[in-house]
Amino acid sequence: MSVETKPVFKPNREFSKNARIKNMCEYQDLQDWATEDYEGYWGHFAKEKLTWMKPFTNVMDNQNFPFVNWFEGGKLNVAVQCIDRHLESRKNKAAIIFEGDRGDKKIITYLELYYNVNQFANLLKNDFGVKKGDRVVIYMPMIPEAAYAMLACARIGAIHSVVFGGFSAEALKDRIEDAEAKVVITADGAFRKDKPYMLKPVVDEALKGNTPVQKVLVVERNGEDVTWVAGRDYSYNELIKNQKVTCEAEEMDAEDPLFLLYTSGSTGKPKGVQHNSAGYILWAQMTMEWVFDVKENDTYWCTADVGWITGHTYIVYGPLAMGATTVMFEGVPTYPDAGRPWKMVEEYKINQFYTAPTAIRVLHKTGENEPAKYDLSSLKVLGTVGEPIDPPAWKWYYEAVGGSKCAIVDTYWQTETGGHIVSPLPGATPIKPACATLPLPGIMGEILDPETGRKVGAGESGYMCVTRPWPSMIRGVWGDKDRFVKSYFGDVKKDGKPVYFTGDGANYDADGYITITGRTDDVINVSGHRMGTAEVEAAIKKHPNVAEVAVVGKPHEIKGEGIFAYVVLKADDGIADELEEMKAINKVIQKEIGNIALCDDILFAPGLPKTRSGKIMRRILRAIAKGEAITQDISTLEDPSVVAKIEAMAKK
Ligand code: WTA
Repeated sequence: MSVETKPVFKPNREFSKNARIKNMCEYQDLQDWATEDYEGYWGHFAKEKLTWMKPFTNVMDNQNFPFVNWFEGGKLNVAVQCIDRHLESRKNKAAIIFEGDRGDKKIITYLELYYNVNQFANLLKNDFGVKKGDRVVIYMPMIPEAAYAMLACARIGAIHSVVFGGFSAEALKDRIEDAEAKVVITADGAFRKDKPYMLKPVVDEALKGNTPVQKVLVVERNGEDVTWVAGRDYSYNELIKNQKVTCEAEEMDAEDPLFLLYTSGSTGKPKGVQHNSAGYILWAQMTMEWVFDVKENDTYWCTADVGWITGHTYIVYGPLAMGATTVMFEGVPTYPDAGRPWKMVEEYKINQFYTAPTAIRVLHKTGENEPAKYDLSSLKVLGTVGEPIDPPAWKWYYEAVGGSKCAIVDTYWQTETGGHIVSPLPGATPIKPACATLPLPGIMGEILDPETGRKVGAGESGYMCVTRPWPSMIRGVWGDKDRFVKSYFGDVKKDGKPVYFTGDGANYDADGYITITGRTDDVINVSGHRMGTAEVEAAIKKHPNVAEVAVVGKPHEIKGEGIFAYVVLKADDGIADELEEMKAINKVIQKEIGNIALCDDILFAPGLPKTRSGKIMRRILRAIAKGEAITQDISTLEDPSVVAKIEAMAKK
């Protein structure tokens, strides 16, 4: 079998000299150490990196796999790791640099962060009665108060669940109910493209009827009018004034939950991915240090939203745990024009810039020559995350943005992995376009054959797995032990034992480099947002005229993947107005999930290709959406004629 070879770019020599991991020998040494003495390796870093209130006595308890305990007996507090421990040497260093949509700026030092988080924690504890273990939903725009809220929860031991601000009231309600949250923290709204938009009304809608939520805290951001429910809603700006600036950090067990983050799976119901304290923060910090190689005086910017895992690990927890300066940006990268990010890079002298392929494609398409207008010489490392990046976008990023001197770290990971698992190291790994390269030191990442569990060879495809539990691995699906085991440890076995399966397909090249090829399940990546097709289907089914629906992904020039829905309507007397019907369906999606899940294409089909046992053949539907020829045998379908009919309609 011929193995694809891609051009190789060696690390920048000057950069490597001062990098934390300087060459592939150092990489290999670390990986060998982990392979030979797994617990010794992790125990070493947990001791070195984390500030313990009480030391741990056992590195890992694997007896109950896949329920694994790390750093048993250890006590710590993640907010202390992210803030207090820096006060001695970095109290006046910028912890967060905030830039608003309209260009307003704010710098928050570590000392200020400490006071702000303590006050926030006191408010939650004293005024709202939030206790250790309580769930707090955070539905916030990209403003520093979102980070304070997360860290305040961590400080008092409450479990936060951040819900992305683009989710609808229904989606928010589902997440609130599943987590049984007692408090919601939100804002009146924020600004986007110079215009105010609202969040508080969405919360009001989500809390209608029975709700576990007792109190809502509203941060003022855009100053627009909002309605207040007496006894439930409180103004952050008022209550915060009365709070003491010190708040003792709760002593947390290494395995006490830190947060839940809901993500899409292969059923209609999102999963509350649970991460715990010590293991998560350890790997967040280590990957920040290794993969971005942020130095003491650097300024690091990740453009994600705090509503996604990237925002958790690489805007808030990772950068702050290592004592870095992290930039938070409220706006969109193309407003007022596609030079906005580069203007910010110049102004703040950004050293590491981390974004999604979708953003790179948009910036490339709409502002190809914008980077040349700014001084981008401060940049050292560029990162991408969330979906496979295509070679043209990679090339533009490398040359036009990075000036052919910056490493591109194509970081592969997931909500469930807590932090990066496969990624280049900027000072060590020779990189190839659109290739995540190698597992990070300590991560036993392997591409396995799903049938035999054998590690696949060069040029062969298989399933991306991790064969040993690692500290920042998902600890559970909130309230559903079975789903946790079945979702991640059911599909692939190595030497007869279940291993963690990511849900992604991948292949090795001749150098053993890993390229991620995309999901093998019914999850699609729309603009880097992870979306379960079953979730979109469940939403569309709520439309009263819909009899049947199947949703698949379709390659999209900017978004990576777009959403393609095949809809069978109940009334078979033809569709009066297709456009109106499409609008109506998208309206249901908007209500049930939010704008991020709107369909790019809707095809009103006469029926769906099904097996005689009633299973929808999605493979056929995916091929039709892509305009590919159908190669599989369709003669065994319940009604083979439906395939040709749909194909003809799709071509129109
Ligand atoms: C995809 C985002 C290719 C993958 C951090 C994974 C990627 C899903 C990459 C997780 C990458 C993430 N190359 N694909 N570098 N990074 N993915 O949970 O399909 O929102 O399973 O976490 O994004 O999405 P999630």
